Amino acid sequence: MSLFRLDASIRDEGSHSRAMADIVQATWREENPDVEIVRRDIGLHPLASTLWPLAVTGSQLPEGDRSDAQRDAALEAAALADEVLNADSLLFAIPLYNFGVSEHFKTWVDVMITQQQRLVPALQGRHAVAVFVRGGAYGAGTPREGWDHSTGWIKRILIDVWGLDLQTVELEFTLVGVNPALDEFKAMAEDMRVSAKREAEEIGRHLVAVPSPTDINHVD
Ligand SMILES: Cc1cc2nc3c(=O)[nH]c(=O)nc-3n(C[C@H](O)[C@H](O)[C@H](O)COP(=O)(O)O)c2cc1C
Repeated sequence: MSLFRLDASIRDEGSHSRAMADIVQATWREENPDVEIVRRDIGLHPLASTLWPLAVTGSQLPEGDRSDAQRDAALEAAALADEVLNADSLLFAIPLYNFGVSEHFKTWVDVMITQQQRLVPALQGRHAVAVFVRGGAYGAGTPREGWDHSTGWIKRILIDVWGLDLQTVELEFTLVGVNPALDEFKAMAEDMRVSAKREAEEIGRHLVAVPSPTDINHVD
């Protein structure tokens, strides 16, 4: 069994998305102490913004006509796809930045999509967990309803484009206690944290309990 984990938070200390992903990972690992965990940290170690255009333009040329940079980009994109393809389960931890998709996560997805023919249908039905954290709150009826332009797009990619069997842990109001303007929401934020933590534990256990499609294929 193996787990691929991707973190997109630009910080380590105090990161809520990392903390929630840690819970999923730890719960999963309790039952699988020997599992391999492959980590890709695009928040602290972003991919180069030139990687995607080089991979795309290179793919449109005959191999012999590619520049060294385009050849290197193709190799790096293939290696990034291998990390995902070789894992039984996938874990993504992604914050909301500036009401949109983290640019680092967008770059990673763009690069992965240059390998789309290898990803589909291989990822179909593979178990995945996405931890979404947001500093504010975006639920129905809130003043910022409709302002989160990240979560919907990410779900489209993970579920509809790659066919993953996705479960989500969502935590909002992580800026409560940081931004004094949100002090009135302290109790609500604490409730949200407790229930997200519980969800993360339950999902970690589910990853253990459900065999991956690869395992199912191995049963005659
Ligand atoms: C540069 C920046 C932009 C942010 N933009 C938003 C935003 O548009 N909406 C929001 O709800 N929270 C926003 N936040 C808050 C983060 O979503 C929140 O702090 C989250 O917990 C960050 O993830 P982490 O705790 O894993 O680092 C922003 C934070 C930073 C640093």
